[in-house]
This record gives sequence, structure tokens and C-alpha cells, in this order.
Amino acid sequence: MPQALRIGLLGCGTVGTGVAKILSEKAQELTRITGRPLTLCRVVVRDVTKLRDSVIPVNLITGDPTTLFSEPLDVVVEVAGGIGPIRDIVIKCLESGRDLITANKALLAEWGSEIFEQARKHGRAIGFEAAVAGGIPIIRAISEGMVANRITAILGILNGTSNYILTRMADDGLTYSEALVEAQKMGYAEANPSLDVDGTDAAHKLAILAHLAFGVQPPLESIPRRGINNLDAVDICFASELGYTIKLLAESWNRNGKLAMHVSPVLLKKQAPMAQVRGAYNAVALVGDAVEDTLYYGKGAGMLPTASSIVANLVDIASSRERMVQQSRLLWPKGKNNGPPILPDTDLKSRFYLRLLVPDRPGIMAEVAGILATFKISIASVIQHESTSSPPNRVQMVIMTHEAFASDFRLAVAEIDRRAFAIFPVTHYPVAD
Ligand SMILES: NC(=O)c1ccc[n+]([C@@H]2O[C@H](COP(=O)([O-])OP(=O)(O)OC[C@H]3O[C@@H](n4cnc5c(N)ncnc54)[C@H](OP(=O)(O)O)[C@@H]3O)[C@@H](O)[C@H]2O)c1
Repeated sequence: MPQALRIGLLGCGTVGTGVAKILSEKAQELTRITGRPLTLCRVVVRDVTKLRDSVIPVNLITGDPTTLFSEPLDVVVEVAGGIGPIRDIVIKCLESGRDLITANKALLAEWGSEIFEQARKHGRAIGFEAAVAGGIPIIRAISEGMVANRITAILGILNGTSNYILTRMADDGLTYSEALVEAQKMGYAEANPSLDVDGTDAAHKLAILAHLAFGVQPPLESIPRRGINNLDAVDICFASELGYTIKLLAESWNRNGKLAMHVSPVLLKKQAPMAQVRGAYNAVALVGDAVEDTLYYGKGAGMLPTASSIVANLVDIASSRERMVQQSRLLWPKGKNNGPPILPDTDLKSRFYLRLLVPDRPGIMAEVAGILATFKISIASVIQHESTSSPPNRVQMVIMTHEAFASDFRLAVAEIDRRAFAIFPVTHYPVAD
């Protein structure tokens, strides 16, 4: 019998349990494909007293992470999440001759160059298919399937929790908090769900995709990001009335040699393919100069979809490790930014949705239109329903603009917010047509 691939698991929560399940339930098929058994040899967790799924052999569980670099293992699968102590553990694993598979986008987005430097130094392979879009093999699509292309744009729904919340709010009228609790129960949310809903998780994933597609290494702070945590259900209703759905989009595209990128809730036409992505599903659209438009769709989170990507990387290591080592050598060169410069988001152009709560009296619409006109922004459509508000005599005014520069739009919004009629700051989102 050929030598088994000896696997250590760092973390055994949602994803770790999924990996153990697939390894156990598909043991024979995986051995047939790779020609060697894929054997779970060690499971490191934080709390050894916690009740685990019966698929996890109790004798493998320990709270001691040093076992991952002191015991005979070939590969460590990091599915613990977070950065602090985990970064040190994975670096020690690489130093002590283990290959690494990680689902941790935060770790890669913030420490990718240091981790890949260690892998190069010690001739190790790194697999990270599960770090972006869960079960969708998007890393493979960019690094292998689209290798003949210069990628010109990435557009993604990359956070399953946010998409689940938006879908439940839009389709079933759930409040934001109710939908978030449901997403957590289903195992979609990160341990710290604020990273899901404030756009950080999507920005981490966008940073990884932009690195692979464009060769840039954008620090997280350089990616303008807004999440759905302040999204009001009333905007979902107005967007729907206008024929749009709101989605949290992560976008990056090459415009005249400069790279635009942002994460934001965006109004999408209801018929657009991305608007059809529902629940915890993710989708990534890639545009290549040879292939043109491509679209990848699937479950972006959850136990088995995410574990599916991890096991695919384990199979790569078991059967074609040298190729993975070669690929890992080329990624995240330290201190090098081989990609185009990043455009300030103020230089981006789009249409905009804005909603104002204003007193129900004459002249306000004309004043708002005048401010927008001052900043070269023209109005495409307006909704204002009869006032039924409490307190009375207030109305919601919703405006869709034609295309404008974000810099002009922000100045216009700041001016509107300064006016006496503005009861609350303007709510606004970009619109993609
Ligand atoms: N959940 C998803 O759908 C999904 C999708 C794609 C990627 N990911 C990524 O996969 C990773 C894991 O996510 P998850 O949802 O499986 O998380 P989780 O359910 O919270 O599980 C985390 C596991 O890691 C262990 N752990 C945490 N810190 C540790 C430490 N310092 N030392 C040892 N063990 C530690 C925990 O131990 P205890 O059990 O003892 O607490 C737990 O078993 C994260 O990086 C996440 O971003 C998750």
C-alpha cells in the first residue's frame, strides 16, 4: 500500500467537521483517485471538552497546536479562522515541512506575502481554494482555466451570509436581525459575523481574487467597502418598486490601465444574472480578453461545500504536489505589486440611488434637483408617495440619477445633508445597469 497522506486539522468547527466527514465517507473514492489513503491523524481545537460529531475520532483530538509540527504529518488544514495565534501556527507548520491548506481569507488577505514567503523558503505547497466563494472552484478557474486570458473585470457576490440576509429580507420580509440569526444557525456566518455584514469578508476575498487576476496586493484599507449592516428594509422596497434588487457586490475592473475596486451594496436590475443569486449562494463573473464573459455559481459557505474545496486541494497535494509547490512559488511575491495602480474610488462613475426623509412642503424637490444640477448630476426618475408617516408631514423622496462621478455625487450629498430640510443624512447606493 502506498504511503498515506497524513493530515492534521487545525480547527474542527463547521468546516473542519465537513472535511472529516468527506474524508471518512469518501475514503475509498479518494484513495482510488490519488492512489494513496488520505488519513486524518490529528485534530487540534480550542476546547477539548466540547461535544463533536461522531465522525471525529476522539483519540485524535487535542488542544495542543505544537502536535501539528512535532508529529509526523504531511499537510495541515487550517480551518480555525482568525489571525493572531493562527498565523504563528501555520508559519511553524510550513517551517517544519508541512504543506498548508487554508480556508482563512482574512489570514491570506492580510499576511499572504509572509505565508507564501515561508512556503517558498521551505519548498511547501499552499492550497486555498476554500478561502474564496466556498465550494466554487474559482481559484482554479483563474489560475488554470483562464490562464490564456488577461482578466479585465471581476464581479462577485462573495459573502453568503450577506446574500442570505438580503434574500430573506427581500423575499420574506424578515428584519435584518431575524435573517442574521437564521444565517448563523445555518452555519453560514463567520465566528465574528460583523466581518460578514460590514463588507470586510468580501473585501478580503476580493483582495485575493484581485491578486490572482491582476497581480495587485491591495492593503485592506485601500479597498473602499460598505456592508449591509446599515441597510434599511425600506431601501429594499423602493429598489424593488424601481425594478432593482440590492446585492452586496465586490467588484474590480481594469479601466485604462488603472484598477477600480470596491465592496458595496449595489442596485442591480432584477433580470441581471447576479440578481438571481439567492440565499447563501455565491457567484463570480470574470471577464477575460480571450474568453470574454464567464460566470461561476455555487454555494459560497456551509460545511460540505467549503469542505469540498479543501478536499480538492488535499487531492492535489496527494497526487500532484510538485505542481502545487510550483504554483505556490509564483504567488504573493513579497513587496512586489506587479499590477496596475488602484484608482481612487472618487474617480469611479455610476448611476446612484438616493433616499431622503424631508418635510412634506413645497419647493424641496426643486432645491434637491438644483443641488444635484450644481454638481452636474441629472435625475433619471423620482418616487415620492403620499405622506403616511409618523410623525406626520414627512415624506420619503427617492431619486435615481443618471451616470455621475462618485466625487461629484459625494459633494452633492454633503450639500443636501447640510440643508435645513434634511431630517436624516441621505441614504445612497450605486446602481449597476
Ligand atoms: N463556515 C463557512 O461556511 C466557511 C466558508 C468558507 C471559509 N470559511 C473559513 O473557514 C475557517 C473556519 O470556519 P468555521 O465556520 O468552520 O469556524 P468555526 O465553526 O467557528 O470553527 C472554528 C474551529 O477552530 C477552532 N479554533 C479556533 N481558534 C483556535 C485556536 N487558536 N487553536 C485551536 N483551535 C482553534 C475552534 O475550536 P473549538 O471547537 O474548540 O471552539 C473550532 O473548532 C474560517 O477561516 C472561515 O473564514 C468558513
